[in-house]
Amino acid sequence: MEIRKFTVVGAGSMGHGIAELALIAGYDVWLNDVAENILKNAKERIGWSLKRLSEKGSIKEDPEKILSRLHLTVSQEEAMKDTDFLIEAVIEDINVKKKVFEKADSLASKDAILASNTSSLPITEIATAVKRPERVVGMHFFNPPVLMQLVEIIKGEKTSEETMKRAYEMGKKLGRDPILVKKDVPGFLVNRILFRVNDISCLLVEKGKADVLEVDASAIYELGFPMGVFLLQDYAGVDVAYLVGKAMGERGFKAYECKAFEQLYKAKNLGVKTGKGFYSYP
Ligand code: CAA
Repeated sequence: MEIRKFTVVGAGSMGHGIAELALIAGYDVWLNDVAENILKNAKERIGWSLKRLSEKGSIKEDPEKILSRLHLTVSQEEAMKDTDFLIEAVIEDINVKKKVFEKADSLASKDAILASNTSSLPITEIATAVKRPERVVGMHFFNPPVLMQLVEIIKGEKTSEETMKRAYEMGKKLGRDPILVKKDVPGFLVNRILFRVNDISCLLVEKGKADVLEVDASAIYELGFPMGVFLLQDYAGVDVAYLVGKAMGERGFKAYECKAFEQLYKAKNLGVKTGKGFYSYP
């Protein structure tokens, strides 16, 4: 099916990166969020990133030309009307996501794929908001989407095989390495592993066996991680880690409840984006 209109709902860390991938792949992209300044910021981040990729020869097309395919709008109607492929990347809150899907259901083209970038919420639950649950699928990207190759393609109970195939092909078209996750379990595949790593790292710190810096140094120098465990949380957003962990816990994934995450979340110290998290960013 020809994709004439590609929509990304949510222009934060993940949404702007997913929109960038779709722009690079040649699509006309409608990026939607609730405020003009969020969209302006997202456009600046995409522009910066495209320039970096171009300097390194990772993209051949002129960044300005790529950026000209981006349409910013605070109107959900404008973003979703007759769209052929939609990826939702809003806050990790089931009610907010369901509202987005309900709206998308009423506006998107008949054959559109409605994908969620959720890290933890069941696709089956999100799909209850629409009359075409067979078209709803998980497409879980990793931060930053333009540099992280992996994308999980998650099947909800009612997702059709055709939708899985189209989401997988889209993952390829966006230059990623998609993997199929056929069980809609909390945290899918990657976060079930990542959150165990978080748990044990947190326990080490809370029991006074090591401090944050020691855990991060061990992860990098002993285990060969590209980033320390706590630095990664600051980078991806402490709020994301906290909300994803909470959602997984509420759905039966027995995690160690890391007090530091909750404390930082409640103090609005969310990592790089607020200037303070496990580390400080002057
Ligand atoms: N676009 C283009 N270029 C970018 C970029 C972007 N968005 N972000 C960084 N870069 C560039 C930098 O400018 C830098 O370029 P130079 O080498 O020319 O200076 C280069 O990429 C490397 O960046 P850094 O020097 O800042 O750092 P790095 O070498 O550590 O690489 C990284 C950055 C690729 C993010 C790497 O640290 C990494 O892989 N980290 C782990 C990320 C990860 O695990 N993400 C998943 C998080 S979990 C999640 O997202 C999902 C969830 O459900 C919670």
